Amino acid sequence: MRWWDSEVGYEVYLRSFADGNGDGVGDFPGLAAKLDYLAWLGVGIVWITPFYPSPMRDFGYDVADYVGVDPLFGTLDDFDACIAEAHRLGLRVLIDLVPNHTSDQHRWFHASRSDPDGSMRGYYHWRDPAVGGGPPNNWVSHFGGPAWSYDEGSQQYYLHLFLPEQPDLNWSNPDLVREFDGVLEFWLDREVDGFRVDVAQGLVKNMLMPDNPQRFPVTPEMSPRQVFGCYEHRYDLDQAGNTAIYRRWRAIAERYGAMLLGEVYLRDNNPNLVSRYVSKQDGLHRAFYFAPMHTPWEPSAMWSTFRDALDAAPRDFSWALSSHDDPRAPTRLGGGELGRARALAYSVLLFALPGLPFLYQGDELGLEEADVPPEQRQDPVGSRNQNPADGRDGCRTPMPWAPGPAGGFTHGAEPWLPIARSDDETVAVQRGDPGSILHKYRELLAVRRALGDLHACELEWLTDRSAPVIGFRRGDCVCALNAADAPADLALPPGQWRMAFSSERPAGAVFESAMTIDAPEGVLLARIPRSLG
Ligand code: GLC
Repeated sequence: MRWWDSEVGYEVYLRSFADGNGDGVGDFPGLAAKLDYLAWLGVGIVWITPFYPSPMRDFGYDVADYVGVDPLFGTLDDFDACIAEAHRLGLRVLIDLVPNHTSDQHRWFHASRSDPDGSMRGYYHWRDPAVGGGPPNNWVSHFGGPAWSYDEGSQQYYLHLFLPEQPDLNWSNPDLVREFDGVLEFWLDREVDGFRVDVAQGLVKNMLMPDNPQRFPVTPEMSPRQVFGCYEHRYDLDQAGNTAIYRRWRAIAERYGAMLLGEVYLRDNNPNLVSRYVSKQDGLHRAFYFAPMHTPWEPSAMWSTFRDALDAAPRDFSWALSSHDDPRAPTRLGGGELGRARALAYSVLLFALPGLPFLYQGDELGLEEADVPPEQRQDPVGSRNQNPADGRDGCRTPMPWAPGPAGGFTHGAEPWLPIARSDDETVAVQRGDPGSILHKYRELLAVRRALGDLHACELEWLTDRSAPVIGFRRGDCVCALNAADAPADLALPPGQWRMAFSSERPAGAVFESAMTIDAPEGVLLARIPRSLG
């Protein structure tokens, strides 16, 4: 067993978690003061989104210095104090490593751009215009438009799979590979427990830079995501060379007992492709598998998603229903009471699967997407494209800690995004109400921790694709989710089974041979040892 095998993770979107200095943006002092809440909730691992010096064009995912802290978030001392406080509370900390690209304000890019013959030129991807002019190939940016921008000075194009202000690093360059080892070591020496690796599928490119095959025609009303999906990313993503980098980093991480968790976002969510990043146990330790966020609420589709995922990676995926990049689960799953009930029921299933589940801040409050008025939206994915609804602001609004206009998030300036939450959605109100959704999540985490077989035993399916209930067994635990529209029965393995957790009803009832599961409802059952039964 490794230290992460029995834990639940929690994503902190730092800008929106807690503001300690009153400037309207979350920071390390704010986070440090709230870590006891995360310990109370029962999570074991905290992933903190980027905090490095940055022009904030992509809110910190445009890094201008890999070994510092942006003053907006505090100082290196504040960082150290936050890590120390987390460790004091028994929490592990993963920080976000952003190796695919830097900011165009990184000194490496300044050097690379200003001197076409210099040694730093090869840290990035520079190419001549295509014959006849224009970008060197047909690659597109995730965030809209071509993946190439022209540099007047050197009359070449540079590659960026995201914003033009986020030039892609050249991972075929051995100097960069060596230099980056020092970045990992810098933070590991400051006692972080590992890294969430941003865009882990993207680092290495095919250096011949051929056009990607186009699968569908692009039309003007398409969102950047849709345009990106019109191409088969044969040459820009998921190149075989990625593995060598993660093998190298794994060796570094193992020296510190640290973990590597990849964001492996592949368009078609093919589990066999994602599993290659983790399956040989010599690269990333865990990889987020995003299909559960995109699978419709429909039992056979959900069952197939998980069966295929676990066939590909029996224990090495990481699961999440929401993130700072995707619409919040309750909204996606139908909204209102129904959406919240489904999200909790779905979490029961994710938390019982082999692998490492994550909550995104506010999941535990049942938060839906926030309605951010157009003039307050900030995400460049929305503002730089024709369709502002593509932006990710609705899932990034600040945590509502307590009733009041600033939601207990800040004591000073206007929050950087509106809070727009009701009193019932706040931590303070829910913490004081034992019947709240927050207490339900806390109970789920406690039950998961207590049921040892959920950390150790193989998964055995109890249902198949045609059933309304998705059910499986792990040792002396059974987990079931009814994702159909009406209550449905589940046949139980022999023995007596005690309800350890239900998303809908109190624990405690005992079942034998079968039980009826509400719609929606997620349950965890524990077998009663025969001598006591
Ligand atoms: C990842 C991050 C996202 C960011 C992008 C570019 O997908 O999760 O927020 O915009 O990488 O760094």
